[in-house]
Amino acid sequence: MVYPIIMYGDPVLRKRATDIEKGSDIAPLVADMFETMEAANGIGLAAPQIGKSVRLFVVDGTGLEDEPGMETFRKVFVNPTVLEEFDEPWEFEEGCLSIPNIRENVSRRAKLTLHYFDENWNEFTVKFDGMKARIIQHEYDHIEGKLFIDYLTPLKKRLLKGKLANISKGDVDTEYRILAPLRK
Ligand code: NI
Repeated sequence: MVYPIIMYGDPVLRKRATDIEKGSDIAPLVADMFETMEAANGIGLAAPQIGKSVRLFVVDGTGLEDEPGMETFRKVFVNPTVLEEFDEPWEFEEGCLSIPNIRENVSRRAKLTLHYFDENWNEFTVKFDGMKARIIQHEYDHIEGKLFIDYLTPLKKRLLKGKLANISKGDVDTEYRILAPLRK
């Protein structure tokens, strides 16, 4: 089932999501997450973005052909914990399905170690770098109640205020279905 994407301004995007009970059947949620991400042409989607405040996100970087090692980067991360972020920060322009048509540079550390479960409750501790780390950091922020615009300077944020208000009202052009908290 394809869910509408929850827009900026909805409190669910600001909540720290809760762990999923280990061993529970997450197959239906995982299938819906992939379907919804694909319908929106996303490379990552976190459960709060479909209104579910649980610690799960999916990624699919297989379409990023210029990025090395992406051909296998289609994954599910369940109950993830960032154990460590390290190396020099680097800037990259990010966007978010919940904040359409806004893209801004965000500085993040280059590498991280992540503990997580996959969709079959297999446990992993893995180091990621480059674009993989970037995508994970963005999605991980979602389940911590954080958004990429939180990293912007006060001036940048002020300049985006009007656009963000419109997004919350659903007054934004997207090629996917949205759910805006202040739509009348
Ligand atoms: Ni996002």
